[in-house]
Amino acid sequence: MEFLLIKRDVADVESDSIVFLCYEGQRLPASARKIDRKLGGFLSDKVKLSDFKGGFGKTVLVDTPGDFNTKTVVLLGLGKKENFGSLEAFRAANIAVARTGQRSRIVSVDFSSVDRSFLKVFLEGMACGTYEYGKLKSSGGKKNRIERICVASRKISADYFSTEAAHASAISKSVAFSRDLVNDPPNILTPSVLAEHALSISEGSEHLSCRVLDREEIRQMGMGGLSAVSFGSSEPPRFIHLSYSPPVKSRKKVAIVGKGITFDSGGLCLKPADSMRTMKMDMSGAAVVLGTMKALGELTPNINVHGIVPATENMTGASAYKPDDVVTALNGKTIEIINTDAEGRVALSDALSYAVRLGVSEIVDLATLTGACIVGLGLHNAGVMGNNTNLVKSVLNSANDVGEKMWELPLDAELKEEIRSRVADVKNVGSRWGGAITAALFLENFVSEVPWVHIDIAGPSYVEKSSDWYQYGATGFGVRTIVNYLMKR
Ligand code: BES
Ligand code: MG
Ligand code: ZN
Repeated sequence: MEFLLIKRDVADVESDSIVFLCYEGQRLPASARKIDRKLGGFLSDKVKLSDFKGGFGKTVLVDTPGDFNTKTVVLLGLGKKENFGSLEAFRAANIAVARTGQRSRIVSVDFSSVDRSFLKVFLEGMACGTYEYGKLKSSGGKKNRIERICVASRKISADYFSTEAAHASAISKSVAFSRDLVNDPPNILTPSVLAEHALSISEGSEHLSCRVLDREEIRQMGMGGLSAVSFGSSEPPRFIHLSYSPPVKSRKKVAIVGKGITFDSGGLCLKPADSMRTMKMDMSGAAVVLGTMKALGELTPNINVHGIVPATENMTGASAYKPDDVVTALNGKTIEIINTDAEGRVALSDALSYAVRLGVSEIVDLATLTGACIVGLGLHNAGVMGNNTNLVKSVLNSANDVGEKMWELPLDAELKEEIRSRVADVKNVGSRWGGAITAALFLENFVSEVPWVHIDIAGPSYVEKSSDWYQYGATGFGVRTIVNYLMKR
């Protein structure tokens, strides 16, 4: 998809659809009024008839007669200007695509009433809105026709536009890549295939490199957690380590770690059938890491980033790990297995220990870790916890900038009692209460003193009910926040 800046009146440009962005309680943009005059007041009549006042997400759609430059005019409500933020900008863009995408190759957007600081997130929304996962349909399955998006504004300079558009384009390609990985079914996207994707990302950029460990190397290295989780599966596990080094030497060095369970059956503590469905998405954290690393290769920020993924299935084979087993993580801590379905944290114990060994100054992990986080926050918010207030704040701010919803939960030390083991250093599950928090407290055992933030993305990674702004399946949630966070470090 191509982004273009237009300095002329949007009505003077050839396109299939024009979208006018309208704040609630403000006059229609000048070019919309001009079109209305040409249409003999047809547009304003329709506005009155449908009671359109610019409320968020409300639209008016008018087909124009043959002698117009455009076939369709859409008025899209943005809500009250004082309530308009990045989240609204991202969603409005997705709605604009939903209203025009099936019938338009070229869409023009009148951006004259919107502040230019929303341009990037708006373009990301347009690009993400056109995402479709059609590759497993024998028909090919593509419905969206948009190829070019023209943004009309006299207030935006060509330089500003090209920087923002280039970023938006790199980021949305990475979001789409991340969504593909999650949408791929688990018989196709196995741990070894995930590792191959990581290798091919690294081959695509001179700033990226990649190291992959196989089952035997994982065992020899002392990764007893990842090994244990993988025992029940005939698909071999992989430990993936992607590195990004900037073109100019930098002393900043951070790690991003993503849970890579390519299918979570629950293991011997088997999930009921209904909860097992969709568990191909249990590698969404890994998909964020791979998507982010791919974006870094293109955006080349001035920071060293390590992307780390423990990848395995969680299955019930004859050698599967069991409740009561005690396993030893890479940092030497022993873990008593209480429930094999709390496998993500067991695999992550090694990945976090590995990140500490790399000598990074910050660790951010993303994981579809707990149903409890969804119970607490609902499907739309990720839960954020960490051992460092400033780092937690900067992750939350980065999320807010790009319109991804994240909410802090307290890493309450009193709950440590819940995961104290009588036979090992720690057990992998506590009682029912505060399940998202005890999961994070478990992870804290493996980050040593390094400033660390854990993002539980179990809710927002995958939607089973499409809305205007998130289509069915993987959302790519997290990529835009983490890329933004790294660009700002
Ligand atoms: N992958 C799940 C968490 C999950 C649940 C993600 C629903 C997305 C949607 C995780 O491995 C798991 O099974 N967690 C258990 C932990 C429990 C056994 C302490 C859970 O949340 O029930
Ligand atoms: Mg599980
Ligand atoms: Zn899981």
